[in-house]
Amino acid sequence: MGRVILIASGKGGVGKSVFTSNIGATYADRGLRTALIDMNVGLRNLDIYMGLENKVIFDTADVIDGVVSVKKALVRDKRFQELYLLATTQKKEKFKAEPADITKLYKYFRENFDITLVDGPAGVTDDLKLAATDVDAAVLVATPEYVSLRDADMVDQTLRKCGVKQRVYIVNKVNKLYLSSGILPTVEVITSIMKIPLLGVVQFDDNIHLSANCGIPIVYGQSSYIERNFHKIADRLLNY
Ligand SMILES: Nc1ncnc2c1ncn2[C@@H]1O[C@H](COP(=O)(O)OP(=O)(O)O)[C@@H](O)[C@H]1O
Ligand SMILES: [Mg+2]
Repeated sequence: MGRVILIASGKGGVGKSVFTSNIGATYADRGLRTALIDMNVGLRNLDIYMGLENKVIFDTADVIDGVVSVKKALVRDKRFQELYLLATTQKKEKFKAEPADITKLYKYFRENFDITLVDGPAGVTDDLKLAATDVDAAVLVATPEYVSLRDADMVDQTLRKCGVKQRVYIVNKVNKLYLSSGILPTVEVITSIMKIPLLGVVQFDDNIHLSANCGIPIVYGQSSYIERNFHKIADRLLNY
């Protein structure tokens, strides 16, 4: 039985989708059957970050409405051993899912994949609560800024109330120079704001930004410190 893990955040633009694509690619490259579900209904991004935008024909709304099977809607990323994407609809009004539909959808993924990463929406919204239905765990993504951390903590509390028991967080876009400057929150402050375990940190690196915009997860075919970092985070996430 596989696991379904939600990637969430308080603020937008903190790096959820980039994190989802890279951790997913990392697992897939290890031979784990890996699926990515974009649940940012109306504002899908993962397809572009994976360079798969021209291959998407069907989306979450088609699956929920029973127009196509999940299998048919999945797009395979052939660069990696076992990586599949279910894109979401760009027409929010088309998406009429109830929690029971999401339960059924995630059941399919648990039965057919080792790991499913759900790229969720930012903030405390009904879409977040829907995406969190029955997930096995959640990773909160925050940046080292007070607003981002406080909002991530609010989302964490919401997820706890939704019954998500396993919750961890990562800090993305970390610039070591600023971290020790005293202007931005230090690691001590960060861990005091967040009440859940810290899974790891990802540095701010323009290469991450550039490769995402080329549709290439940075972990693809690289042997950089960034790739090693993602591997460490992927290991720890497997143990939660
Ligand atoms: N570690 C990082 N270093 C540099 N840029 C990053 C990093 N992580 C994400 N980005 C950039 O930040 C922006 C927002 O990332 P994205 O994953 O779309 O955020 P979200 O899904 O949380 O809205 C994108 O331009 C992306 O390339
Ligand atoms: Mg996103």
